[in-house]
Amino acid sequence: MNIAVRKTHVFTEVRKLQLYLADEKAKGASVGFVPTMGALHEGHISLVSQAKKENDVVIACIFVNPKQFNNPIDLKNYPRTPEKDITLLESAGIDAVFLPKETEIYPDNYAPAIVDLGELDQVMEGKFRPGHFKGVVNVVNRLFDIVQPSKAYFGKKDFQQVAVIKHFSKILHPQIAIVDVPTLRDAKGLALSSRNMLLTEEQKTDALALYYALEFAKTLTSNHTPKEVKKLIENRLNCDKFNLEYVELVDPVNLQALTDNWVQGATMCIAAFFGSVRLIDNMTIFPN
Ligand code: PAF
Repeated sequence: MNIAVRKTHVFTEVRKLQLYLADEKAKGASVGFVPTMGALHEGHISLVSQAKKENDVVIACIFVNPKQFNNPIDLKNYPRTPEKDITLLESAGIDAVFLPKETEIYPDNYAPAIVDLGELDQVMEGKFRPGHFKGVVNVVNRLFDIVQPSKAYFGKKDFQQVAVIKHFSKILHPQIAIVDVPTLRDAKGLALSSRNMLLTEEQKTDALALYYALEFAKTLTSNHTPKEVKKLIENRLNCDKFNLEYVELVDPVNLQALTDNWVQGATMCIAAFFGSVRLIDNMTIFPN
């Protein structure tokens, strides 16, 4: 890859990135940080746009973190489009991109983050992807140590990830503000995701069922309890076009399942497989 001719700074080494950041911070610049695993789409660009409004300098990272994949096939198939990603970030006006090798992120003396996630990583994604959030916490913690931004930006499509990151960073990086940015959807309603590029056209149409189910769930909250709504949506999504993994209706802060009573910000989360592609989606359904 030819990275020498680019206008945007592209760093592959921690040391060089940190020299650049030290220089910017010495001039008084606030730093906004957008960590990603690449295969970028408009959802990522909306994080960059928000970061640009709120910071003097914005840096994105592209690193497919092996430690957060519990399934080696998923890691192997994860889309990788670094050239296209850097071009997209450049046109979004990013100041710098960090594109590290694995040894930069996990050097020999690397020490994993020690933090108790409580129940946050025992439910939903945590239950179906054991070890996933430990991997996310480790990479985000390491990236926060390297970049030490003022603010870091994450998409709400990964609703549980945002809850986990807010929790651990309050303990290990209280000076960094975690900003969650609303999910972007395509014109039909499909939540934008890097994994969508692995779907066939037919699977993309099938996947709209998740969005329709979430919208439908909102209409049920006035005359059903959370556990009834969960059941109704599970029944609706149990079909032979895709494999539903879970539907959960949770408290947005502690992610505990709701049963009889609605709470402010009650969120429905869904995961399903379309062929071998696993998609997640979520929506605040109460109040609607
Ligand atoms: O959401 C993602 O793309 C990843 O989980 C993150 C936060 C960049 C950590 O690898």
